[in-house]
Amino acid sequence: MTDFPPGFLWGSATAAAQIEGAAFEDGKEASIWDAFARVPGAVLNGDTLDVADDHYHRMPEDVALMKRLGLHAYRFSTSWSRIKPGDREFNRKGLDFYSRLVDELLANGIVPWLTLYHWDLPQAVQELGGWASRDTAYRFRDYAEGVYAVLGDRVTRWTTFNEPFCSSWLGYAAGVHAPGVQDPRQAVAAVHHLHLGHGLATKRLRELGAEEVGITLNLTNALPRDPSDEADLDAARRIDGLNNRIFLDPLLRGEYPEDVRHDLAEYGIDDNVRDGDLELISQPLDFLGVNHYHDDQVSAHPLEHALETHLVQGSTRPVASPFPTAEFVTFPQREGLSLTAMEWEVNPVGLTTLLVRLGREYDTLPALYVTENGAAYDDVVSEDGAIHDVERTAYIRDHIDAVRAAIEQGADVRGYFVWSLLDNFEWAWGYGKRFGIVRVDYDTLERTPKDSALAYASIIADHDAST
Ligand code: NOJ
Repeated sequence: MTDFPPGFLWGSATAAAQIEGAAFEDGKEASIWDAFARVPGAVLNGDTLDVADDHYHRMPEDVALMKRLGLHAYRFSTSWSRIKPGDREFNRKGLDFYSRLVDELLANGIVPWLTLYHWDLPQAVQELGGWASRDTAYRFRDYAEGVYAVLGDRVTRWTTFNEPFCSSWLGYAAGVHAPGVQDPRQAVAAVHHLHLGHGLATKRLRELGAEEVGITLNLTNALPRDPSDEADLDAARRIDGLNNRIFLDPLLRGEYPEDVRHDLAEYGIDDNVRDGDLELISQPLDFLGVNHYHDDQVSAHPLEHALETHLVQGSTRPVASPFPTAEFVTFPQREGLSLTAMEWEVNPVGLTTLLVRLGREYDTLPALYVTENGAAYDDVVSEDGAIHDVERTAYIRDHIDAVRAAIEQGADVRGYFVWSLLDNFEWAWGYGKRFGIVRVDYDTLERTPKDSALAYASIIADHDAST
């Protein structure tokens, strides 16, 4: 591990809703996920976020675990519904929790890497229109300002949004994520209002003195199922637009891509944009977070491929296509590649390709961080209590090698965060899918580092010893 740049950050990531629990404690009110989890069939097994990993009460123990693993940085999110519940005044107790977390991290030499929004909109803001409404972007800015007022003296890395793709397409078009809406027009509006919220909050955080502000996108290569088929090639271009360029281009070029505008014209993409929005959205970023799990195969012949397509969703409610352009199928499996428990292909080369591509296509690309990468597997606890998660360990090693390969090809990648530190609430899948490098026993809430955690710790230690 001698060939990562000096100062390369090794970390792990979580999100508030997925680990904290204490869903209605100390002034926290319902988020859209608390509400959605109560809709019959929305989350597998009817799992809720009420207790999750109980991190809210076990935070010092969890930070001690991070320290034991030698993490340089910890990526976490703040919960809007804990901090500004019901869209009213700020909740001191909620802010205090994050203030204690940040102090604990700093006392242990761990960089706090804060994300302001990881999908848990206050239900009260949803009732005012959620991300389909422009006002939500301004409310987000105000919430960001309140968080900065308390943590800005200690937190240097600020991420506005995690994966706006999921908040818009999965929440408002597919309906597989909260708030469970299936209306392409609202989804297209949500895309723009998330962008606007990013722009407004970035401007405000910078005025207040934030050192580094960025955003995290889940970017997914879209490849034609049959590269010799013109229709598949065209479908892949269009899906690439909706997976990637609809987020990258406004941020890095100050415009929506022409072909995407054309595809989404009937859903009013241009109607949402007002004068000055795109200037605000395209302010320079200090970093871009990239989450990557798999590539998408795209076919323009849905019927032909229906049988081999695994539409794995978790939810047992009927779900719609994530995209308004539903005439294509996308699936995260390529023939010949092994699959994780999510039925996602294991494809480290895809990560290298993606990181290198970004630098080639965008002149204004800032420093990159892989802010999420990891895998769910059906772990088995051995008789000695250990978890020999051989596949996850290989997955992490191979993807770290893939990041190294991207750096060798010129990508400016400065850090890598494993998803996730702990097994946690995997959204529509509830607790059924385990992504942690640390096992959580959901009966006792006991934490046990898996072999992958120990392997990751030794990768970090080797790196530290060589720099
Ligand atoms: C992306 C999301 O940011 C995270 O919340 C989720 O658990 C992982 N991917 C795995 O699906």
